[in-house]
Formats: sequence, structure tokens, C-alpha cells
Amino acid sequence: SAARYEAEDGSYSAGGTVDTDHTGYSGTGFVNSANAAGAYVQWTVNAAQAGTADITLGYANGTTADRPMDLTVNGAAVPAGTSFGGTGSWNTWHTAVVAVPLRAGANTIRATATTAAGCPNLDYLDGPA
Ligand code: GCU
Repeated sequence: SAARYEAEDGSYSAGGTVDTDHTGYSGTGFVNSANAAGAYVQWTVNAAQAGTADITLGYANGTTADRPMDLTVNGAAVPAGTSFGGTGSWNTWHTAVVAVPLRAGANTIRATATTAAGCPNLDYLDGPA
């Protein structure tokens, strides 16, 4: 099974908070980033081997506007401008699967908001087994 990395166990940019005021999250909460372009959540994700692997991000966006984020792995954009559209409510969590190039061992994966609304609420990142 995939290794789960809770957003609340990662790191996040100033103004972000770990919140529990919406239901259905995994772990002990979720990260509510600042509503600002450049807000981010970052995880350290282990991979047994180098190569392209799917990661899955759990998120909620209770608005009707996309909250796109640029994903970087070890500093490289992979890919930019990934869409995180409205999920219907802040209690409704969807997943986004993105194929990313990983190296063996620890990888730094960052999701950075590209609009003034900031990130969607971020619950977890599932990495490779
Ligand atoms: C609401 C919601 C938060 C969310 C925020 C936002 O305040 O309760 O969980 O992060 O909207 O728009 O980002």
C-alpha cells in the first residue's frame, strides 16, 4: 500500500494553520494555507527506487474557483499549474493523481499556490509504496 504523508506533519509557509473544523480529513487535521499566491505545503517523500511514480494529493476546495498549484519535486516543476477545482464543500475531499520523477531516497515535494486564493485545504500526500 502507499505510504501516507499527512499535510499536518509536513511543513508549510507562514500563515498556514492546521485546522480540524471540517469533517472527513485523514490524520489529525489538514493544512489551511494562507490565502496568497506563493503559499505552499511541503512534504519529504521516500522512494525505494528512482523513476516516475504517481503521487496522490487529498484536498478540499469549498469554493467554485480553481485553486491551481505548481508542484515541484526536488526544486523542479513537475508540472506547473495543476488544477484543484471546487469539491462542492469544505467537508468533501477529492484526490488528484500526478506522475512525478522521484529519486531513490528522500524527495522534497512542494505544492505552491499560483493565485491569491492560496492552496486548497490539503489533507495528505500518498507516495509510492
Ligand atoms: C473557509 C474555510 C477554510 C478555507 C478557507 C479558504 O474559511 O473554512 O477551511 O481554508 O475558507 O478559502 O481558504
